[in-house]
Amino acid sequence: MKDKLLYEGKAKQVFTVEGNPELLILSYKNDATAFNGEKKAKFQGKGRYNNLISAKVFDYLHQHGVKSHFKEALNETEQLVEKTTIIPLEVVVRNVAAGSIVRRTGIKEKTIFNPPLVEFFYKKDELGDPLINDEHALLLTDATESDLQQLKEMARQVNEYLQAFFKEINLQLVDFKLEFGRNAHGDIILSDEVSPDTCRLWDIATGEKMDKDVFREDLGDLVTVYDHILTRLEAKQ
Ligand code: TMP
Repeated sequence: MKDKLLYEGKAKQVFTVEGNPELLILSYKNDATAFNGEKKAKFQGKGRYNNLISAKVFDYLHQHGVKSHFKEALNETEQLVEKTTIIPLEVVVRNVAAGSIVRRTGIKEKTIFNPPLVEFFYKKDELGDPLINDEHALLLTDATESDLQQLKEMARQVNEYLQAFFKEINLQLVDFKLEFGRNAHGDIILSDEVSPDTCRLWDIATGEKMDKDVFREDLGDLVTVYDHILTRLEAKQ
């Protein structure tokens, strides 16, 4: 049923589906990149972990009424999704200070944000995905003021669900990135992936980093860490 390669990104390939223009197949790659592609490596098995973990996250969000592009995992590395036109914004939610906000503002790492912070980054590889404000987002995308409010509202809601989801497997959700798209009916739905590539997750007991920061900061073996997450998720059900 996989038809033509439509697009290849840093972590996934996107294929059309024979006979159904409203569907796509996402194929998760073993590549990891960081710092806008400056740092690169391949990890055997990484695609499988992100596919299976992201599928579990989207299933959970679906059970809680969050509308997303996710349909089903087709096999170990591929999933079937509804086709959307991606709004070129990375919507980041932060519960705890880490990563770029620490470098950008000098806020101390581990500072708690209550309420959580929502930020928009403009998805543009050539520019290194810069942080932008709402007025920039209105200029740079076709999103309206009310669409931006909807994105923030959905991101905050997803944060509530994901915090509970990861807490059950003893992980603190520090921050994460979401992408949204419009489906054929014009509805804005959650798209892309939610995985340890796109979240910061700290072990509640030990404080250990259990996400792509292991690769970004050379802290250990990425695949071992992703395997722990999948194992914990499988044990939870
Ligand atoms: P940041 O602290 O580097 O801005 O990242 C915030 C969150 O967004 C973190 O959980 C990692 C995730 N993220 C992505 O998923 N893709 C990206 O390209 C970047 C820069 C961050």
